[in-house]
Amino acid sequence: MNATFRFAALAACVAASAGAAGAGEAFLLQTKSTTMAFCRENGSWNMVHYGAKVESAADAADLAWNRWTGGHKYEQRRPAAYAAYGGDRERGYGFNKWGGLQVTHADGSLTLHLVGKKAETVPDAPGTTHLVLRQRDRVYPFHVVQHFRAVETCDVIETWVELKNGEAGAVRLGRMDSFAMGFPLLADGFRMQYATGQWGAEGQLRETPVERGQTVEIGSRSGVRDAFGNNASFMLTIGEASTETAGRVIGGALCWSGTWGISVQRDNCDYVEIRAGADTSAGAYVLDAGKSITLPKFALTFSASGKGQVSRNFHRWAREWQMPAGGKLRPVLLNSWEGSYFSFTEQVLHDMMDGVKEMGGELFVLDDGWFGTGKYARDNVHRDKVGLGDWVVNPEKLPNGLSGLSGEAKKRGLKFGFWVEPEMVNTNSWLYSAHPEWAIRERNRPVNVGRGGSQTVLDYSNPAVRENIFSQLDALCSKIPDLAYVKWDANADFFNMGSSHLDAAHQANLPFDYTVGLYDLLAKLRAKYPGVDLQACSSGGGRVDYGFLRYADEFWASDDTDARERVFIQWGESQFYPACAIAAHVTDVPNHQTKRVTPLKFRFDVAMSARLGFELHPKNMSAEDLAFAKKCVASYKRIRPTVQQGDLYRLVSPCGGSHAALMYVNGDASHAVVFLWGLVRANWSNFVPPLALQGLDKAKAYKVREINVVKERHCRVDGKTLRGESLTSMGLPVRLRGDYDSAVFELTAQ
Ligand code: DGJ
Repeated sequence: MNATFRFAALAACVAASAGAAGAGEAFLLQTKSTTMAFCRENGSWNMVHYGAKVESAADAADLAWNRWTGGHKYEQRRPAAYAAYGGDRERGYGFNKWGGLQVTHADGSLTLHLVGKKAETVPDAPGTTHLVLRQRDRVYPFHVVQHFRAVETCDVIETWVELKNGEAGAVRLGRMDSFAMGFPLLADGFRMQYATGQWGAEGQLRETPVERGQTVEIGSRSGVRDAFGNNASFMLTIGEASTETAGRVIGGALCWSGTWGISVQRDNCDYVEIRAGADTSAGAYVLDAGKSITLPKFALTFSASGKGQVSRNFHRWAREWQMPAGGKLRPVLLNSWEGSYFSFTEQVLHDMMDGVKEMGGELFVLDDGWFGTGKYARDNVHRDKVGLGDWVVNPEKLPNGLSGLSGEAKKRGLKFGFWVEPEMVNTNSWLYSAHPEWAIRERNRPVNVGRGGSQTVLDYSNPAVRENIFSQLDALCSKIPDLAYVKWDANADFFNMGSSHLDAAHQANLPFDYTVGLYDLLAKLRAKYPGVDLQACSSGGGRVDYGFLRYADEFWASDDTDARERVFIQWGESQFYPACAIAAHVTDVPNHQTKRVTPLKFRFDVAMSARLGFELHPKNMSAEDLAFAKKCVASYKRIRPTVQQGDLYRLVSPCGGSHAALMYVNGDASHAVVFLWGLVRANWSNFVPPLALQGLDKAKAYKVREINVVKERHCRVDGKTLRGESLTSMGLPVRLRGDYDSAVFELTAQ
């Protein structure tokens, strides 16, 4: 945590307000350059501003969003701190038929009207202000405790909600969003950027206007691969347009790995409601009498200077506050998957270790294919058809076990890690044979299966299932000396919807309780093995979310390792996720997914812009390629602190263009790394406009040095020292020759 954080006690300011806003209190929740303002009116808490800084609580009360008078009275809605279905009709506001929370009370009543006590701040970490708003229904003993935790230096506010059912019977949560904020449209236009995708094409950016009368909604109902279709994050431009460096933008990300939905609704009177939370498509969540539930965390930021700042705010927050060890430098590793798939022997793996050691790598990771016994051994013949759920080494394939491999890695000065898929089971496994009821399955229907014709998902809402998997993993990990890394894969969705553990009344709780169970297991493993790094993987980038990243150190960005595709995928993922978390591997050509052939230099130049690794058999590389790889890894180790821990500036977008560029700048702007990638150009020209650099100290002079050079150089001022001011104003003159040409420049303050 940054030692310069200062306690933000002063930031919390409670003041009586006066004037037309109505009676009540205002509360300003402050970060470095943003304010979220709340007002209490007639006992209910409203959120009356979120955006650029406001210092006066009295002004916030006077200018409150709820003074907005557009639309007809019956449509008029109150910008509640937590917009709920029903709303404040007693005070003359419209019936909110939207809202992020819909509760069917024990007596069948459908609406909520929340009223609350004074705002209070509670002690939390230095550098944060933690506001708690306690509200309850005006009539029913149904309680809502809303938390807003402002992380001052990152301009990020985390918010989450606790619901408590104090009623005599169970209530049903038809919607259970973590965040539901309403406000009048603050500009002429309104646009939503989000990342969409599929297997092999995650993180593809799209932007759409949100027109009057429209709701734009993204979400996932997978249950497991929550980030395949859409990522649980968005940027909302308030106004006609925003760029990387200009425009008012709200960025939000839901920290959740289960089913989810995020929507922006602009109604026919230009009132806007942003909602984000766990999805209830399977049915209303049943919360029993006397029980509480904590909904997923939602993180948001505001930037008055475009999307780039939204990303930087999120990256910093992720590294310093959300990820378990976000400040730690990530190792250069080789993963065995594309190098050998299921077909390996101990000798093959030792050879891979030799190769990665020669290139200067630091960690060897054994991927799928090492486990299962007897008829369920995941060998070279049965491959992905068997074995999931049986987390014991296949002794036929690996007579010396995982500890033997770890020892071999150690001999070579490498660390060791392995792959596992703990949420899954093959119907062809010893675990399934003993406990078919542990799989997620529907009563009275056959079990649907996915990969290998036999894969399905274990019921993590069941503590007995989690206990079994924990014991198996614990038995494995505890026997591997110096275990450094685990790749946690998950290659299925909920193909079935039903739990043998939950009773008939609670079946629809499965997607939510599954994810809570998953986090329970991850927390237990992380606590027992704090030094072991965890990679989130899910058929590639199916688990790119800040819920999993609470426990994981990085994610596998995509199974598509074609460097050209990775420019787009990593660009999309960089909107919210920091480079230290994005695993990017150099692989063989023709690429296994796209069959495209790109130069080795291009593949390195792309992978080095995130967490560098390999997925190939080094034995297949020529001596020349190995020598180049060795040079690149040495350079990467030098630039790694800036790439993995620096501030990202996206300079030229690949979307629709002939090339792309981005740069990282370290904390004191003494070091920067610029990446330039040529893509296929329709109307070929060797003209690339100078790259207007960002984030440099204008007063400093920087020596420009191109690295990863094969033959040609790409900048005519290579080797020169130039002022930050000039590089910012006039740009770095660069050139590219032909498709997939690329360049990396290091700038060092003199
Ligand atoms: C899917 C992952 O995305 C791959 O990297 C690899 O680990 C395979 N699963 C193994 O089955």
